[in-house]
Amino acid sequence: MPQITVNARSACYPLYIERGVLDTLGGKIAKALPGARAVVVSDETVYELYGARAKESLARAEVPSDSVVLPPGEETKSLPVLFRLYEQMVELSMSRTDVIVALGGGVIGDLAGVLAATYLRGVPYVQVPTTLLSQIDSSIGGKTAVNLPSGKNLVGAFYHPRMVLIDPGTLATLSDEEFAGGMAEIIKTACILDGELFDLLEANAGRAAVTPLIEQVIARCCAIKAGVVEADERDTGERLLLNFGHTLAHALEKCARPPMRHGQAVAVGMTRITAASERRGMTRPPGTAARLAGLLAAFGLPTELPGCIDSETLLAYAWRDKKVFSGKLKLALLRSIGEAFVHPIDRGGLAAFLSEGEERR
Ligand SMILES: NC(=O)c1ccc[n+]([C@@H]2O[C@H](COP(=O)([O-])OP(=O)(O)OC[C@H]3O[C@@H](n4cnc5c(N)ncnc54)[C@H](O)[C@@H]3O)[C@@H](O)[C@H]2O)c1
Repeated sequence: MPQITVNARSACYPLYIERGVLDTLGGKIAKALPGARAVVVSDETVYELYGARAKESLARAEVPSDSVVLPPGEETKSLPVLFRLYEQMVELSMSRTDVIVALGGGVIGDLAGVLAATYLRGVPYVQVPTTLLSQIDSSIGGKTAVNLPSGKNLVGAFYHPRMVLIDPGTLATLSDEEFAGGMAEIIKTACILDGELFDLLEANAGRAAVTPLIEQVIARCCAIKAGVVEADERDTGERLLLNFGHTLAHALEKCARPPMRHGQAVAVGMTRITAASERRGMTRPPGTAARLAGLLAAFGLPTELPGCIDSETLLAYAWRDKKVFSGKLKLALLRSIGEAFVHPIDRGGLAAFLSEGEERR
């Protein structure tokens, strides 16, 4: 089984990546946290599909368990839901020696992570991510958060899990749209740090073609994410590269009507920003943006701005990005496929960048 260790300054923990690893959950918890009781936090869709397997595994290892099952969707990642969870933890007599198991996608992982970070000033938690996005990204690195009505991920903590159990078999039930959203993040990782992975994806483009290789692809992305987290635990330096395509994506998610999903917005953001940086000679060789667009399209992802959005609107939203420091936005750009850099840019510079793309439309 591919096993990767995250060696961050504040925590060290394993990522297990294998089809069927969900069934070893109980044994792994019993070994790492002897005597712990578990509370499985999940959403209705995931619990219906995989809750019984998680609970059976815990029972086989004689780990007593309870479950809290929440509605699926981003609205669940909220303070009101978190408050109710605190009360439920008290009702279940959850103590600091017990463990929270986050069984689900990034919504459940982020929410259960904040719960674990703050309930009783911190209890152990285990991530069992079940979407492609959460398997290669959100379950690793200890960023936990809930949303406020005024914005996403505004309240949270850096708090690492004790372990991450990644079962690629769970992806079989994921919708094509969710699978494509995860692929956008995988393609982003390949673009910024792993040109060979980009080649591998090009040679196996599309869900059916990549599925036999998905364990290998996930392991590669997890190793990269672990390395970036180790180098930059608090999201200030190299971790900014992971933001490639995201400045525009966050803007698009806010202003596109009908709303655009995150992965789909990242796909457009990456293509658009690369088209502009390529025209300025910052990204080489010529044709890189077209190559990127071709791979994204093969996974069913969009590469063009929705017709209703112009570069002015996009600029206004992009400039509100959390990554603006001292009047400059740190834009992650590609030097070439597999290599990225951070380019500080002021508002006027970003406007020129975005309108260059506009002329081509
Ligand atoms: N913490 C981080 O570093 C980080 C990084 C990226 C994203 N995020 C967060 O992750 C969240 C998005 O995560 P997501 O894309 O996993 O969405 P999600 O958790 O909402 O899951 C998407 C949908 O897929 C369903 N689902 C999950 N696993 C399934 C499976 N195996 N089979 C069938 N259906 C399944 C869920 O019920 C849900 O309806 C956002 O809130 C985002 O802010 C966090």
